[in-house]
Amino acid sequence: MNIKNSSAGPDRPETPPTDHDLSADDIRSGLKSTFWREIVCRRSVSSTNDIGLSLPLDDDQGNSGVAVVADRQEKGRGRFTRTWFSPPGLNIYLSIVLKPDIPPVDAPFLTILAALAAAAALHRETGIPVSIKWPNDLLMSGRKLGGILTEARTAQGVITRAVIGIGINLNSSTDDLPPEISGKATSVLIETGATVSRGRVTAAIMNEFESRYKKLQAIGVVPLVQELRPLLTCLGRDIVVTDGTSKISGFAEDIDDEGRLVLRLPSGLRRKIGSGEITDTGKM
Ligand code: BTN
Repeated sequence: MNIKNSSAGPDRPETPPTDHDLSADDIRSGLKSTFWREIVCRRSVSSTNDIGLSLPLDDDQGNSGVAVVADRQEKGRGRFTRTWFSPPGLNIYLSIVLKPDIPPVDAPFLTILAALAAAAALHRETGIPVSIKWPNDLLMSGRKLGGILTEARTAQGVITRAVIGIGINLNSSTDDLPPEISGKATSVLIETGATVSRGRVTAAIMNEFESRYKKLQAIGVVPLVQELRPLLTCLGRDIVVTDGTSKISGFAEDIDDEGRLVLRLPSGLRRKIGSGEITDTGKM
């Protein structure tokens, strides 16, 4: 294992050297701009999203970002209060912290943006074609390669903080996956047979995120929707969407300019759905 320093920002002390091959300096060396004000790199955290939710933010945070990465998470979490498998030394646990200058109604686009950024970075760095299961799953060969968990804070109708958590199964082997997810999950290593540098892929995700984020703030959501459509697994298929309690079945027709799924119900009526989890019925 390499011994490398991780670094912190001006108002926080250096974190001690780590015994894992992930460092803030490595990540920073792969970044294309100074947009990233701080990279917090820790050995072990409860959840990088927890760190992201508690960091102090600057007033100019709208024009810069902070990234929190960790070698492992003790309490990595996914959507619907699920646990996110977060062993040491293998995978990416990244939380991007922003004060985005976008209306709260556009907050779901931060999840979509992160999914697009991760898909583009993985394709660029590893060659694998990643698809997106609306709104937040990254899939390869029909199995889950990664996921996004966005947590936002608002006050007086303004987003005061958004923490976009990105988990990618990079170097886990089939044997590393716990039995409860082994049939449903995959990793870059499983798909390609090759291990990949976590620092390099993390920097690539941050670069791809930054360019789309700047476009979102300057132009709005339309370019993101256009980029998303061809990557979605569900369009043109019969699906079931659940929000954890109720289920809606229908034909997935499109994604609208608010990032909502447009579902044609068996009655012929159309329904727009802002969040939920999709199950594909296997029918087109
Ligand atoms: C999901 O698919 O349910 C979302 C998974 C999100 C996992 C990432 S790993 C980094 C960040 N920290 C967490 O605790 N969760 C997110």
